[in-house]
Amino acid sequence: MRTDTHHLTAARVTATPRITVVGTGYLGATHAICMAQLGYEVLGVDVDTAKIDALRSGRVPFHEPGLPEALDQAMSTGRLDFTTDFSRAAQFGDIHFLCVGTPQKPGSQAADLRFVEAAATQLAAQITGPALIVGKSTVPVGTAAMLRERVRTLSPAGRALDLAWNPEFLREGFAVQDTLHPDRLVFGVASTWAEQVLRGVYRPILEEGTPVVVSDLATSELVKVAANSFLATKISYINAMAEVCEAVDADVGDLARALAHDDRIGGRFLRPGLGFGGGCLPKDIRAFQHRAREIGAGAAVRFLEDVDAINARRRSRAVELVRELAGGSLLGVRIAALGAAFKPDSDDVRDSPALDVAHRLRREGADVVVYDPEAAENAHRVHPDLPLAASLTEAMRGAQVTVLLTEWDEFREARPESLAALVAEPRILDARDALDARGYTRAGWAYRTLGRPFPPVPSAAHPTSAAVAVREEELELCTAAAEDAEPVPLPAEP
Ligand code: UDX
Repeated sequence: MRTDTHHLTAARVTATPRITVVGTGYLGATHAICMAQLGYEVLGVDVDTAKIDALRSGRVPFHEPGLPEALDQAMSTGRLDFTTDFSRAAQFGDIHFLCVGTPQKPGSQAADLRFVEAAATQLAAQITGPALIVGKSTVPVGTAAMLRERVRTLSPAGRALDLAWNPEFLREGFAVQDTLHPDRLVFGVASTWAEQVLRGVYRPILEEGTPVVVSDLATSELVKVAANSFLATKISYINAMAEVCEAVDADVGDLARALAHDDRIGGRFLRPGLGFGGGCLPKDIRAFQHRAREIGAGAAVRFLEDVDAINARRRSRAVELVRELAGGSLLGVRIAALGAAFKPDSDDVRDSPALDVAHRLRREGADVVVYDPEAAENAHRVHPDLPLAASLTEAMRGAQVTVLLTEWDEFREARPESLAALVAEPRILDARDALDARGYTRAGWAYRTLGRPFPPVPSAAHPTSAAVAVREEELELCTAAAEDAEPVPLPAEP
């Protein structure tokens, strides 16, 4: 519980805390920059010298819309700096946010806690006065309580050092918006002092009316994995329906739209396609299953196995459809793979369905050329053998099958007529259901997507206008509702 020392320092720490942010990846760099924008003095810390050098020189070392401008702004105030020096950080900060990664352990479903443990203990060993460590990384339930005991035992500050958990829900591509205007804040605390400090540091955000849920450490850790499990389940649910639709030539697009009109279900995260990927959803549902088994609650989240399996099957189905479009074999077939990032507006290829499908196609002997507007460098790091094009045109020139794997605006906005002129065969799998099916068909493309009926693939290299007209008619029947197909076809939840 709260000590007198805490009580005395609470006012100072809540009024003008100095902040460190440990880990300067997508989450940490954004958090550091946004906290400086809110008016705090902030020191970002990382063991990666290259990352720190980039940030110090005003460059964001990954793609995140709006973040470079925010970094510029924050640096110009003189309130933001970055370092690799942990002792400087320990002396500088009153509140230390932990934003390091908790990736999946190789060969296991479990989360690798090495970085979070190292960050907490390295800091704690050098913190000498009252301070609050605030974990933001996604961790297995029980980690925060264990770390709290460990840092208090280890630190010269002893019980004047507290630890709280404050999970982060930011989405890549919307990181600045989600950090400065989150839909909720969650404070996992073991003392009223910690709650006071968190309420203080987040005051500008709370004053906007942002709801806050204050709970214990374990619940706050669970909130994050529960949220990501729910989102993953919703995506796999609609993708499971896509599988069923495929079995009877029904249309999952119409089905999703019809479901979305039910307010209780809602349309968000109900977009069928190639499934989820990224640095959070896949590893979080696996780590949750692993931890649940450890604590004797494995049966409660066993369904997540299916969620993961449905997600994986979408990738296999995409490969199967490309093979069909290619005429039954992928051997030597020139394929334009559009997209490598796990979603648009990101250069993140962690567990990316797009990159995985491109890689599988190449493994089956196809001559794959990948183009992604932002993720080429990261894709090359993961699969150096995968040929990359420098432009959409280069990727498409001479392609026998095209497959849309990440729904970047550049791909959605490209004119099907212009693209048809580049390829050897106008055949496309729109694995994200993001393109204008009717427009493509009109332009002579054999167009397919997942979970929706499609017209037969023409046997000629370039279909005759009569063949196009027939396909157009057929498509009219099966995609009547796609007429108004907008980038996000489902109504948003209120
Ligand atoms: C996610 C959570 O949304 C965020 O709250 C958490 O903090 C981190 O994990 P992010 O990984 O940035 O964020 O991606 P998100 O926008 O949630 O998309 C996840 C994946 O699901 C993407 O691969 C996306 O393409 C896919 N997706 C999303 C679908 O396939 N269908 C949908 O309807 C929505």
